[in-house]
Amino acid sequence: MRQGKKYGTHIHPFHCEGSDYISCRKLELGICFFRLVSKKQQLLTKIMIGNRLIFNSGIFARMGIGNILKEAHRLRLLSTTSIQSQCRHKNRARRALMYVPGSDEKKLKKIPSLNSDCVVLDCEDGVAASQKGEARRLIREVLDNSEIDFGRSERTVRVNSVDSGLCLADLEEILSVKNLPSCILIPKLENLDHTKWFVEKTNSILKDRNLKEKLDLIFFVESAMAILNLKEITEGSIKICQKSHFEPAGIVFGSDDYYASIGALRSNDASEIAFARQYVVTVAKAYHLQAVDVVYIDFKDQKGLIKQAMQGAAMGYTGKQVIHPVQVSICHEAFSPSLKQIEWARKLVEEYKKHQESGKGAFVFRECMIDRPVLLQAENILAVAEFLSKPSESDSNEDWKDNSKHTTKK
Ligand code: COA
Ligand code: MG
Repeated sequence: MRQGKKYGTHIHPFHCEGSDYISCRKLELGICFFRLVSKKQQLLTKIMIGNRLIFNSGIFARMGIGNILKEAHRLRLLSTTSIQSQCRHKNRARRALMYVPGSDEKKLKKIPSLNSDCVVLDCEDGVAASQKGEARRLIREVLDNSEIDFGRSERTVRVNSVDSGLCLADLEEILSVKNLPSCILIPKLENLDHTKWFVEKTNSILKDRNLKEKLDLIFFVESAMAILNLKEITEGSIKICQKSHFEPAGIVFGSDDYYASIGALRSNDASEIAFARQYVVTVAKAYHLQAVDVVYIDFKDQKGLIKQAMQGAAMGYTGKQVIHPVQVSICHEAFSPSLKQIEWARKLVEEYKKHQESGKGAFVFRECMIDRPVLLQAENILAVAEFLSKPSESDSNEDWKDNSKHTTKK
């Protein structure tokens, strides 16, 4: 099974089965439909979007293209919301992105106990200027040394920014390890020249590696100018990366640098940066990327973290940056649908179907008006739950105690 490619400005996380996958052509303007053709010009056996089987070969052969397109519409595959939810976490969940300073041997040894979706081995701001070389050396050792067991955690590295003058040395060291990380995080991406630089350098460093899959690229937006440029940066980076070993997978809102950039004073409710926080998630979702929320630096205040993480999840963020081990499970929980949410969504979908069959577009469910947009929200919850496969056991989110109330806030 191979992962499909990205076309145009949209990302399509489909999979196809068949040993001789060769090409994939867009058939119509609909954002998610492709014709998959093998070397022998035969249609492939199966097309999946996310976890959903779209067509198998028998159906494909019998139906003809026109009918397939109609069927695609019927299945609402062109519904942006359901596609977005399929893309929401893309290949892997990143509910907590846990920074481990690359120069701190003691903290690196803690990796096996972190149990974070994603571990970020940091070369950047968690490392003192005098320790950059040591961080590269230790990270290299950690990646290639099987003694440090990452368990279920993803292995990723944050390099220094392009403008720092340190990034090339980071990339040369990190991308020459035997066991490459699955994702590189690049901070302070300010413009497309940075992406071009990154692609040029990494293409050169990786030219002799026969990589079977692209690595993920997650970039940070951390300044007023980067916020202004974010749409162009995102759209352009997706295009530029087509000819690289990387595929953009997410955007991180680097809130502390952003505070500094605009001269704002930080508070725990992050109200001063509400516009940028909302904008980052909007752009990320427009391009079907993961959106990673702000850091909560007051790591002893767990109540405050729960509140901010739940708020980020409700805004549409898919995960959060984490600096201390106590923050990991809180974020995993916050960015997973609760059992209560899942129950609400399942019932709502059932009711919606029944009402559609009886000819009603809008109806009342648990004292609230339900129509198609609410159905799409419920489908989002179910898609994320299915993706994560293990819903959170506890249901501590007060805001979701009564989901019917939530649905009235449209
Ligand atoms: N990664 C791995 N282990 C960590 C950790 C991290 N980020 N943060 C703390 N720990 C470990 C500590 O080593 C300590 O282990 P021990 O019990 O064996 O001594 C344990 O968790 C408890 O830590 P604690 O004593 O409460 O905190 P600390 O004073 O050691 O560290 C920070 C506090 C904030 C300095 C530390 O959490 C840290 O460096 N975080 C990352 C900062 C960073 O990367 N910033 C840049 C991105 S925003
Ligand atoms: Mg930063």
